[in-house]
Amino acid sequence: MIAVDGPAASGKGTIARALARHYGLPHMDTGLLYRAVALNLLRWNGDPESEFAALRACDFSQIDFADPELKSEAAGGVASRISVYPLVRQALVERQRDFAGQRGGAVLDGRDIGTVIAPEADAKLFVTARPEVRARRRYEELKRMGLSVHEPDVLADIRARDERDSGRAAAPLVKAADAILLDTSDMGVEMAVAEAIAAVDEKRNR
Ligand code: CDP
Repeated sequence: MIAVDGPAASGKGTIARALARHYGLPHMDTGLLYRAVALNLLRWNGDPESEFAALRACDFSQIDFADPELKSEAAGGVASRISVYPLVRQALVERQRDFAGQRGGAVLDGRDIGTVIAPEADAKLFVTARPEVRARRRYEELKRMGLSVHEPDVLADIRARDERDSGRAAAPLVKAADAILLDTSDMGVEMAVAEAIAAVDEKRNR
């Protein structure tokens, strides 16, 4: 089982998908679960300040995980707010642990996979990059999606998200002691993926 954690726009999703393809393992983007809760809340006009409203929104019966709305900045922003609630995190744990524990293995990416969801993972990666680099990547991504955004706003959003994710009491974003640190600031996708595969191979063959 492979755990990939890291901050917003660090490239963890791309790396996790590439690892899953390389090793022939199923992949779960756990950020989508938090985004789904956020999207429910937005659609129900629920209050993100209320932990109980957020808990009620942990219902995936009406969620289509292919819905592009899940990827929106609105959903991402609310996701980072409701993910501070212990009751919300608790409601999503089982689904993630079941996926992580499946026979044959799996790749999960998120914020707390190596620390909380699967501390027993065979290999853990902590993928990061400088905030300016992550803001540029997210900006390019949003532009490609046809959205008009300002790079300084994207950077401010990334910094705010980092602070919320790292500063919260419940399962904060932190590198597990036994995770391999991969700083992709000065790497292209191909190089980052090659480094990740090499790191996982070394861990698994030891
Ligand atoms: O990559 P990006 O930060 O844009 O989004 P994401 O990985 O889809 O995660 C959205 C939000 O969900 C994050 O800001 C985290 O606050 C939260 N999250 C979490 O708390 N734990 C996870 N395992 C995954 C996401």
